[in-house]
Amino acid sequence: MDKRKMHGVWASRWTFILAATGSAVGLGNIWKFPYIAGENGGGAFVLIYLLCIALIGIPVMMAEVLIGRRGRMSPINAMRYVTSEAGLHGGWTAIGWMGVVAGLMIMAFYSVVAGWAVNYIFALASGEFSSAVGTVSTGYFDALLANNGKQAMWHSIFSFMTFAVVAAGVTRGLGMVARVLMPFLFVVLILLLGYGVVEGDFAAAFRFLFEFHFEKLTWNGVLVALGHAFFTLSLGMGAIMAYGAYMPDHSSIGRTIITVGLLDTVVALVAGLAIFPIVFATPGIEPGSGPGLMFVSLPVAFGSMPLGLIFGTLFFMLVTVAAWSSAVSLIEPGVAWLVETGKFNRIKATFLLAFVAWCGGLASIWNGAIFNALDFLTAQIMLPLGGLFIAVFVGWLMKRDVVAKEMDGEEHPLFEIWRFVLRYISPVLVALVMGLSLYSKLFG
Ligand code: PFF
Repeated sequence: MDKRKMHGVWASRWTFILAATGSAVGLGNIWKFPYIAGENGGGAFVLIYLLCIALIGIPVMMAEVLIGRRGRMSPINAMRYVTSEAGLHGGWTAIGWMGVVAGLMIMAFYSVVAGWAVNYIFALASGEFSSAVGTVSTGYFDALLANNGKQAMWHSIFSFMTFAVVAAGVTRGLGMVARVLMPFLFVVLILLLGYGVVEGDFAAAFRFLFEFHFEKLTWNGVLVALGHAFFTLSLGMGAIMAYGAYMPDHSSIGRTIITVGLLDTVVALVAGLAIFPIVFATPGIEPGSGPGLMFVSLPVAFGSMPLGLIFGTLFFMLVTVAAWSSAVSLIEPGVAWLVETGKFNRIKATFLLAFVAWCGGLASIWNGAIFNALDFLTAQIMLPLGGLFIAVFVGWLMKRDVVAKEMDGEEHPLFEIWRFVLRYISPVLVALVMGLSLYSKLFG
């Protein structure tokens, strides 16, 4: 069989948008963005993050999808194809390999956090947080972190959910789920935003997120913002490349990716504006509380809200779905590759990789340092490096007419602007930020 056709193609441009948005919108937006914004002082961090999305994230995302669609295979084989098409050294295939490894590493802490969210569905439904105050919800979260067996159980359940969908094929499972449930997630977030405006300290939240205090931002904070731009767009590790491989031939990469990037950014900002009003109105919860921020602040709101039990349960169900549609894209690159070797069917391939990631998850439950190291290594090193190489590859090494043909943009003025940014701006900024933050770590 022609390997370039073996995985099939999304039914339409919209299916691709849904799947890519499903991959992009996840714990990164709702859990991670608010807490790292909190840890890095708010406004200035948010501004840098938005600049990274516009100047690096979206242009590189287009490049990554382009490689995937050109190669029409798993990231490893797609890279092999475009590399030989451009007459280059096979070493570039390493981008694909690094992506497969990074995906498993991310999954090994991602599914732990997703497991917390599953746990919270039941905690809210059972009325655990009715009229909870800050200390109660903080105590509950700390108790969960101290209970490894409980975390491992929820982590295993979430890992199994992910395995089931990837094994069934991404199109049949998640396309449908994302189409129905993502809009729901958005509605509940808006509702929480409304709660924050009425009951919380919305003005303080708004100032915190949008007033720039550059004195609070460090070089390391800039690197966190850059890394997060990659993480939140599922970029630099082949997930979006794998999804691009299943994109129909004649849909515009430019417009499609801008849609995905905007949706992702809006969800993150709304999540921030929903969480921080509660944080500022609740004694005992600080913006810099770290990974527990969402888990300690939102239950306080749900506990005092009319119908809070129902909305709270629903909210954590939706967070779980958002995490689920992202998690499948974390192992898809490796699964597609294993299937292409001809030695595995899809179910065996998925089982193998889900099992490896599951073991990693147990390790990060067992030792918080492993959890942190996996997060740091992927978001702040591997994804930005992957993105840098992708920008250089598409911007400088692929033939201009091949790129123009895939972008369908020979005559379009935006094509030249995009290509300019991809060549001169995105890679330079990534290298600069990584270099400066390394410098400040060593000598600062
Ligand atoms: N973009 C996802 C999120 O924001 O939660 C996380 C993620 C998924 C990162 C897939 C990388 C990836 F390949």
